[in-house]
Formats: sequence, structure tokens, C-alpha cells
Amino acid sequence: MRKHIVAGNWKMNKTFSEADDLLNDIMEKLESTTLDKNTQLIVCPPFPFLEMTSDDSDDSYFLVGAQNVSDQEVGAYTGEVSAAMLESLEIDYCIVGHSERRAYYHETDEIVARKVDQLLKHNLKPIVCCGEVLEEREAGKQCEVVRKQIEEGLFHLTEEQFSNVIIAYEPVWAIGTGKTATPDQAQEMHAFIRSLIAGKYGDAVAEETSILYGGSCKPSNAKELFANKDVDGGLIGGASLKAEDFIDIATAF
Ligand code: PGA
Repeated sequence: MRKHIVAGNWKMNKTFSEADDLLNDIMEKLESTTLDKNTQLIVCPPFPFLEMTSDDSDDSYFLVGAQNVSDQEVGAYTGEVSAAMLESLEIDYCIVGHSERRAYYHETDEIVARKVDQLLKHNLKPIVCCGEVLEEREAGKQCEVVRKQIEEGLFHLTEEQFSNVIIAYEPVWAIGTGKTATPDQAQEMHAFIRSLIAGKYGDAVAEETSILYGGSCKPSNAKELFANKDVDGGLIGGASLKAEDFIDIATAF
């Protein structure tokens, strides 16, 4: 049975002490919550808080992800953070290709592919984001857009490499807007993504790949989104900044 995953993407929020407080709140909530054994909780804080989060995760029930990584191995790349650095902090996951990085930092599918390669080389699992903007959906092009992102960002991988990848479908028009994809829209796209994976790597690999939904996912809609057979969890932005909401979502399966 493929894993259910709920990952909190804190984006560029929280100071050090606020991050400390949020982690403590999450750990306290987890003390009194029984997560389903098949559910993996992941916290993705900004880089400066990764070490603290990683230390806290040793005593709690979550794993840690970064929000970005360099597409280069090492050297003169001022301001960048390498996969080797994340590996040395024992970080388990990393978000790649988020629509905010694609839109504001010109992250192309080629760059996404190189970042994925770096992560896999250093034993991190990539959480690879895909999704269409509103005009693309209105033009009925959402499948075409997502197909290109998946093919160009991921389909150079071997089957063994691909088995470490998590996919997050995040319709850009639903991110931070309060507009959520309907459960049917989410299921339709997730099934499409799974069919692409099956076409490339076969049914067994497709069945094992966790495909998360992201975009205004919150406690009030998580249950109906996660009830769909191809929706294996969520990548949570705003609602992951409140421990109670984040853990409520994690128990919505
Ligand atoms: P949101 O963000 O939950 O605030 O819409 C999701 C994401 O961008 O990962």
C-alpha cells in the first residue's frame, strides 16, 4: 500500500523563535494524536531552521524536508544550498519545482530535472510539484501542461530512481487563494498523473507512487480530497503554520 503523506511547506514564514514555538506545538499535538501507521508527516521549514527541526524530529513522529536545493554539486554559487549539505544534516525530503519557484525564480523543467538528480544522488527524496495556472485550465490545457512538467522533470530517471519520487499536484490557481480544486478535479488529475507513470514505468511503480494534492488544503476540505483513490495526501502551505490545523489534516484520511 502506498504511503499517505502530509507535508507542511512553511514557505518564507517564521522567525527562529516562532519556528521553535511552532515545532513545540506540533510535537505537543503529536503526543496526544495517533497518526495512522501508513501516514508520514513531513515538516519543510526555511533553511535556517532545518537543523533545529531535524533535532526535534528525532524525538517526534515527523520527518524533515527542505523547500529548495541547488542544481549544482558544489562550489562558487553564492547563496545556494547543496544536496550534500542537506544530506549532512540528515534531511529526508526536499520540495522541487514549486510554482512559486517556477514563477519568481525562473525554475524550468530542465532545472527541476537537475535538482531531482542532485537530491537522489545524495539520498534525499524529491517532492516534485506540478500544476497549471488558471488560464491553462480555462483553456482546457491542464493535462498537457502537467504532462510536460512530469515528462521533462522526471522521466529521465531509471525505475529505481523514480521509486523515491513523490509528486505534488498543485493547481496554481488554488495556492494561497482559498480556492481549492474540487475533489473530482483533484482525482481526475491525480489519475492522469498515475497513468503517465504507468505508461513510462509500469503499473506496479505507478501504484506505489504517492501523489499529493496542494492548494488551499485545510482541515475543512482535507477529508473529501483525501477520500479520492488517487489522492495520497497533501502539500500544505498556509494551514501548516498552525499546529492544530496541520495535525487535523494529517488525521483526515
Ligand atoms: P497553500 O499552499 O496551502 O497555502 O495554498 C500550498 C503550497 O503552495 O504548497
